[in-house]
Amino acid sequence: MAVESVISVKGLTKTFQGQPILRGVDLEVYEGEVLVILGGSGSGKSTLLRHMIGSVKPDEGSISLLGADICGMCESDLDEARKQIGVLFQSGALFSSKTIRENVELPLREHTQLRRDVIDAIVKVKLEMVGLREHADKYPAEISGGMRKRAGFARAIAMDPKILFCDEPSAGLDPVRSAELDRLIRTVSKNLGATCVVVTHEMDSAFAIADRMAMLDQGRIVAVENRAWFERLQQLKEDETVDMTERELLVRQFLRGDLEGPLSKREDAEGYERDLFGVKPLGEAAD
Ligand SMILES: Nc1ncnc2c1ncn2[C@@H]1O[C@H](COP(=O)(O)OP(=O)(O)O)[C@@H](O)[C@H]1O
Ligand SMILES: [Mg+2]
Repeated sequence: MAVESVISVKGLTKTFQGQPILRGVDLEVYEGEVLVILGGSGSGKSTLLRHMIGSVKPDEGSISLLGADICGMCESDLDEARKQIGVLFQSGALFSSKTIRENVELPLREHTQLRRDVIDAIVKVKLEMVGLREHADKYPAEISGGMRKRAGFARAIAMDPKILFCDEPSAGLDPVRSAELDRLIRTVSKNLGATCVVVTHEMDSAFAIADRMAMLDQGRIVAVENRAWFERLQQLKEDETVDMTERELLVRQFLRGDLEGPLSKREDAEGYERDLFGVKPLGEAAD
């Protein structure tokens, strides 16, 4: 069976205030998978995700979402394309003046012509999925951080999105709440048949939900492999690492949070870049 690519990112570059943030990102996301994008703080994960939902335009490169090129789209076409995606932002991003029910029904009221009673039923189903049906009439300030996250998740899936994007879903949650949300994301996206792109720097979370993982480092994807590949690297003993490439050592250090490794040797940045990518650093004269 051929696997369809639902997001295709090619040669994406983005510079903010003279600082290159994304430096040629290529990434395919396949239908029905949970892809986790890993990377250190400030490595450009959120920036990449914002490109994928069309809220930031690239300097160069292309992004195709469900077969449509979103880089050249006008706002109204983008709004149309966005009906097929759900986004869970880091904060949950609920409207504080609206109840949980009102927050979740918002996309349905804005983007569909469904009857009131149908919307009410859909909202009940979504709130039940995240265990919040009994809290529908509360305001965000009246529920816990974990519940707010789940409410944000219910809103993200209100429209049965084809693709679900989550940026650091477990940030700010305690380990148990965090694990609960991970499980919820995975089961709900599998039940809805939604493709899911999750950005995180938390390893437990990444390993709990990923089918495949992509690691972003210094504006480039250094590895995109299935979860087992990353698990194997993480578990390798020190004496088993002798034949590993610089790229594998770097990923391993990140996964394990080790103090020693290529990530800690960035002073030799130029040599590192040449090692990793076989290219000359910018500004260096050709032979
Ligand atoms: N709109 C923006 N304007 C200027 N700099 C930005 C903007 N968005 C992100 N950045 C910078 O890009 C870098 C990567 O940010 P981000 O994508 O949020 O990283 P991550 O999500 O991996 O922590 C950071 O140095 C950040 O300050
Ligand atoms: Mg971020």
